[in-house]
Amino acid sequence: MCGIVGYVGNKNCVPILIQGLKRLEYRGYDSAGIGLIHEDEPIVIKTKGKVSLLEERVNELVLESEIGIGHTRWATHGIPNEQNAHPHTNANKTLFIIHNGIIENFQALKNNLIILGYKFESDTDTEVLAHLIDSYLNKGINLSKSVQMTLNEVNGTYGLAVMYSKEPDKIIAARKGSPLVIGIGAGENFIASDVSAILAYTKNVIYLEDGEFAEIYKDRYVVKSILDKEIEKEIHEINMSIDEIDKGGYPHFMLKEIMEQPESTRNSMRGRLLIEEGSAKLGGLNDIIDRLVNSKRILISACGTSWHAALVGEYMFEQYARIPVEVEYASEFRYRNPILSGEDSIFFISQSGETADTLAALKEAKSRGALALGICNVVGSTIARESMSGVYIHAGPEIGVASTKAFTAQLVVLALITLLISKRKGLKPSDGKKIADALNEIPSKIAQILKLNDEIEQLAEEFKDSPNFLYLGRGYNFPAALEGALKLKEISYIHAEGYPAAEMKHGPIALIDENMPVVFIAPKDSTYEKILSNIQEVRARGGRIIAITDEGNGEIDKLVDHTIKIPRTIEMLTPILTSIPLQLLAYHIAVKKALDVDQPRNLAKSVTVE
Ligand code: F6R
Repeated sequence: MCGIVGYVGNKNCVPILIQGLKRLEYRGYDSAGIGLIHEDEPIVIKTKGKVSLLEERVNELVLESEIGIGHTRWATHGIPNEQNAHPHTNANKTLFIIHNGIIENFQALKNNLIILGYKFESDTDTEVLAHLIDSYLNKGINLSKSVQMTLNEVNGTYGLAVMYSKEPDKIIAARKGSPLVIGIGAGENFIASDVSAILAYTKNVIYLEDGEFAEIYKDRYVVKSILDKEIEKEIHEINMSIDEIDKGGYPHFMLKEIMEQPESTRNSMRGRLLIEEGSAKLGGLNDIIDRLVNSKRILISACGTSWHAALVGEYMFEQYARIPVEVEYASEFRYRNPILSGEDSIFFISQSGETADTLAALKEAKSRGALALGICNVVGSTIARESMSGVYIHAGPEIGVASTKAFTAQLVVLALITLLISKRKGLKPSDGKKIADALNEIPSKIAQILKLNDEIEQLAEEFKDSPNFLYLGRGYNFPAALEGALKLKEISYIHAEGYPAAEMKHGPIALIDENMPVVFIAPKDSTYEKILSNIQEVRARGGRIIAITDEGNGEIDKLVDHTIKIPRTIEMLTPILTSIPLQLLAYHIAVKKALDVDQPRNLAKSVTVE
């Protein structure tokens, strides 16, 4: 949700900022801008639309600067246009600010500034900060102190970077609720909302925490607490390569990430799956395992795709560990005064580890004494750091806005946690072994499913013009139906709904006619016979049926229009396999509709606002 990058050093920062913004574009892509000091002149260039348009403008102007900041926006206050793009400036354009987050009291601050004579060019909350800082600078206060004093007046969230042409040796950065890292180079330093923007230049980073504030110079940096005390920060080394965040020859990140799933699921279980013992070891849970296993109740909270993974986790934990589980949208959980105690454990699942609602729910759970655990992909992300303990899913960087490989890796990790806690709760060794063997075979089964890519592309051709889709599944594959529908709607803009198949007759069945494609997720599991009846009900009303079922299942062929046949696995792992054809179907439909698969309209990869 908005990308931030900044540079101070001896090189020309323009290409560094543009490259950084391109890598951050998944965080927001409705407008972009940079601010720099070219031949002692402060300059701001902004464009509506993608970073490539900004790049064209910047290239025409041939600019050079050894300090600069850049931003790619995901609109919150004010429509996506040039005026609302960042950086925002003070009246004489000597000060630039870029910001990710929301200033909740911006209107009150703006009203005061208007009374003082300040004029506003944009509808954003961020511009208020520019003028407020300016009001302190005008009193002769230096930049660092002016930013600090401004932030003391602000309610809300921010990751921000500020530059001032009268103090051209530094960038000021501050964080509260929106991520920021400082990249440490030799004779140059960086600021970014995530490491992907600066990984090409340095692997050494410092994560700013909420309430921290930094002055970044080319050859040094100072980090301070909210109370203005200097803080010694640990430098982390990132062990991710730049190749890992490139497209690797695929036309889209989403397709690359779908195709990576044999490897990403393997990485999620590497060193953790104990095949012979039919168990799992998860270092991140070692210290709290007794408390977790003895929980009276487990809760799982998340948003979007991660919430779908949570639903699958509910089925897994309840079936094998026999601990009652509740799953809840993080955004609802945090505001409903949840009843929690020290006997509850609560997992927070988040690919990015930065989702504002999930983070707030985590803090709420911690404050109420529950054991708060993270399941994250991005190492060092806020949720990962705020959790009391947790497990990384190790899916590798996910850049495509629609989550794919993170979802399957989340399911693998939930299966590993199931094994770990169920063993402690007395799972039979033979059952443990069965799960471990089946998990071990998942990567090669995914590879087999990926060979159906051409077949699924043909299906996409046939169905790409349907304005609506229904996705139905039961048991473990009810969440898979929700996920299939979400994938389709977010990248193809086709209206799609997911339902438990049996719920169809309580309403959605009214939608079914010969124009309605219905995707049934129907592996031969304990719900199969029931789902066959639901297929008959749709067939009787003329619906066009696509069924995902097991290899060798011939009986379903005559009931449906198309089948996608996938390898068998044990029931609890079926959603890992059934979600792969659903991802491919959504992907190919969106490509055939010539849509921007990796950056669908209105979305952002990391939702750091409420
Ligand atoms: C859908 C998607 C979103 C995210 C949601 C939570 O493809 O990516 O629904 O799953 O915004 O994000 P994380 O997992 O980063 O907390």
